[in-house]
Amino acid sequence: MSIEMSNAMSLEMSREPVISARDVRVWYGTTRGAIRAVDGVSFDLAPGETLGLVGESGCGKSTLGRGLMGLLPKGAKRDGEVWFEGKDILSMRPKDSYRLRGSHLGMIFQEPLTRLNPLMRISDHFQESIKQHDPSLTKDEIKQRALDALRLMGIPPTRYRSYPHEFSGGMRQRLMIAMALVLKPSFVVADEPTTALDVLVEAQIVQILNDLRRNFNTSLLLITHNVGIVAEACDRVAVMYAGRIVEQGRVADVFENPQHPYTRELLRSTISLRTTGLNFIPGAPPDLVDPPDGCRFHPRCPEAMAVCATRNPVNIERPRGGRVECWLVGPEDEIPPGGKQRLKQEELTVADEA
Ligand SMILES: Nc1ncnc2c1ncn2[C@@H]1O[C@H](COP(=O)(O)OP(=O)(O)OP(=O)(O)O)[C@@H](O)[C@H]1O
Ligand SMILES: [Mg+2]
Repeated sequence: MSIEMSNAMSLEMSREPVISARDVRVWYGTTRGAIRAVDGVSFDLAPGETLGLVGESGCGKSTLGRGLMGLLPKGAKRDGEVWFEGKDILSMRPKDSYRLRGSHLGMIFQEPLTRLNPLMRISDHFQESIKQHDPSLTKDEIKQRALDALRLMGIPPTRYRSYPHEFSGGMRQRLMIAMALVLKPSFVVADEPTTALDVLVEAQIVQILNDLRRNFNTSLLLITHNVGIVAEACDRVAVMYAGRIVEQGRVADVFENPQHPYTRELLRSTISLRTTGLNFIPGAPPDLVDPPDGCRFHPRCPEAMAVCATRNPVNIERPRGGRVECWLVGPEDEIPPGGKQRLKQEELTVADEA
């Protein structure tokens, strides 16, 4: 990334960022070739700030969240830098990044059941994770902290010695959140923390996440399908498409004045899902083994121009702050002659089928 870009990104922050991700890439090896699930992502997060990460299923949100924490499955490779308190997490020894997780970095997973050991009581889960990071605490102190965290998530103390299978899906999700928050980490990735929950509990969790950053200055990367939650709970939003963040900025700016056609389509389809359900973004997300040349969204973009099919868009500052990568926004002087011609519908269809 250019120096101007990182300057622009930090200028936008009033304080030193807690997390600075620079050109992060994650890919999975398969027999078809590498799935480039995250392909050059950069962002900053200030203390106490919440960044909402949105985008269609399969665009790489969970992979990015896990990649930031160093929690990728075997066979996944990663590249880039993630700076936290002056250190690059991605180049740390596994032992050191393990120590950071839990005490300073927390992760709330999309699928809670796969993360809880069915043979361990909830009390044992808490004992194990707290003890690891603060061996000086006594059993009673640990219990007290665990019960406080559970109470915050609306789980009664009587359930402390239950097993994971004795909880409902929504309760298990809240358990995961309590476990991630008990050590008051300074940076938390929450991957769809509310999908398994009903609307009431969802509102409650948004409230808790808001309290958390007010009380402990926790920074949060909130991965969600729910644009309403982003509007309610986030300071900034990052829109992801096919492994890249195509637009990011303050929530009010981006939602009121989306610069990228994908952001516009995403906002439109979210609204119509609630109303008619007939409006969706035509075409399918690209194959991440062999994504389209130029802008990855061009085969589905209603406003695509000739340049979009051949050249990667440049990451530039949005008119009202934030970043965007789309040839419609600029830089105009880098568009070759004839590049502004609209792509014809036939060409779009061919690209779509390819
Ligand atoms: N362990 C894995 N091995 C191989 N490919 C994977 C693996 N995990 C994810 N992928 C692929 O990487 C891409 C991104 O997946 P990811 O789970 O990060 O998307 P997502 O944005 O979180 O989607 P969703 O909204 O459905 O949770 C997809 O193409 C997916 O099939
Ligand atoms: Mg996911």
